[in-house]
Amino acid sequence: MIVVGLLVAAGSGERLGAGAPKAFVGCAGRPLLEWSLDALSAVCDRVVVAVPPELAGLERDRVAGAASRSGSVRAALRAAPEADIAIVHDAARPLLTSGLLERCLAALEDGWDGVVAAAPVSDTIKETGPGRTRVVRTLPRRGLWAVQTPQVFRAEVLRAALEADEATLAAASDDASLIEAAGGAVRVVEAPAENLKVTGRLDLRVAEALLREREGGAKSSRPDTGAGLCSSPTAAPRA
Ligand code: CTP
Ligand code: MG
Repeated sequence: MIVVGLLVAAGSGERLGAGAPKAFVGCAGRPLLEWSLDALSAVCDRVVVAVPPELAGLERDRVAGAASRSGSVRAALRAAPEADIAIVHDAARPLLTSGLLERCLAALEDGWDGVVAAAPVSDTIKETGPGRTRVVRTLPRRGLWAVQTPQVFRAEVLRAALEADEATLAAASDDASLIEAAGGAVRVVEAPAENLKVTGRLDLRVAEALLREREGGAKSSRPDTGAGLCSSPTAAPRA
């Protein structure tokens, strides 16, 4: 089975407003996309990156992205006709780990077309009416998931789902929804909340802090540093 990573990095990053495509903005000392590229490269036979058209072809396996996110996924997948399994990931999620990728890959058992990393919703979700002010209903939280990437698919199923018109691709906020709409079977794998998406300035600061913490933990030679992402602060010794 040939596993190909499709890293989508062709967005403009308007909400971040950094004056450069978001995936190429610096985060903890490297361009944002390089963090997740490392994790994908550790588990995939090959990784194709969809980049803004002006950056395509400058490096191997960098192809021109499209106007929509799913269009960029399709462009990357078209460059990987050998793929049996495709792993789609947003360059905007730099805290991806090879552990999460392996759990998602292992979950693509017979009978499933796709696997999505997702975190259980912890906020109460309400829906407002047309004026976007008055609450019309509160959704029962049980059974709701905030879906992330990575998303792992049988490549042939993803290829078929992406052969949609531009309007359908533009309306899809993830690729799994295109497969679900065609009757495909998609399952979730619970992912850590740390696998956050960088959308605005605050996210970039949080991602930077978590990546530096992770790097510090990896570099430390002390056996028990307590440097995990969820560690509680250690009390300072009394003077
Ligand atoms: N993406 C892409 N091609 C597009 C749009 C988005 O490859 N036409 C990628 C982005 O580079 C990002 C991921 O899809 O890694 C998720 O998109 P998002 O967070 O919305 O990033 P941007 O579209 O860059 O940001 P914004 O919507 O604020 O402009
Ligand atoms: Mg976008």
